[in-house]
Amino acid sequence: MVVGTPFLTVEQIQKKNRELADMISADYRGKNLLAVGILKGAFIFFSDLVRLIRVPLTIDFIIASSYLKAETSGEIKVHYHLREDISGKDVLLVEDIVDTGITLNYLRERILNAQPRSLKICTFLNKKERREVDVPIDYVGFEIPNKFVVGYGLDYDNKYRNLPYISIFKNIA
Ligand code: IMP
Ligand code: MG
Repeated sequence: MVVGTPFLTVEQIQKKNRELADMISADYRGKNLLAVGILKGAFIFFSDLVRLIRVPLTIDFIIASSYLKAETSGEIKVHYHLREDISGKDVLLVEDIVDTGITLNYLRERILNAQPRSLKICTFLNKKERREVDVPIDYVGFEIPNKFVVGYGLDYDNKYRNLPYISIFKNIA
C-alpha cells in the first residue's frame, strides 16, 4: 500500500534512529535516564529508539492532544501525565514532530516545574518554518519542509499511523 508521496523510506528512518540512539547512548552514560514518549504520535518512533539505546533506562508516557482554535493559538489537553517521580531523573522527552512548538513548550514547562535533574528533547521530525514558540530541541531526526506528513506514528484524522514510512499527505478517500 502506498499512501501519498513517499518522503522517508524505512531504511532512511532506521539509519537515522541508529544515529540518534548512538548520540543519546553516549550522552547518557552513567546517568539516570527516564525516556518519556508523547502519545499517540511518537509511539512507533519511541519504541524503535529505546530499543537502540544502549544505556539503562526507564520509560513513561504523556498522552496529549492539541486543538487548534485559531491559526496562532493551540489548547493542549493532557489525558495522562507521568506517574514516575522525576526528581533526580535525567528526562528525555520524545516527540514525533514539532510544528508550532506549542505542545512541546507546554509539556516542557510542566516537566521543569517538577524539577528533574535534567531535561532534553528529541524529535523525529522538525518543521522549523512553522515555529511560533521557541523551544530548545537537543536531538532532531529530520528537518522537513512545511508539508503535512503521515505514517510512522503520524496521523491524519487518526489514520495512516501504521504506515512504516513517512509520506507527504494527499487527500485520499
Ligand atoms: P505543535 O504544538 O504545533 O508543535 O504540534 C505538534 C503536534 O501536531 C504533533 O505532535 C502532531 O500530533 C501534530 N502535527 C503537526 N504537524 C503534523 C504533520 O505534518 N502530520 C501529522 N501530525 C502533525
Ligand atoms: Mg503528537
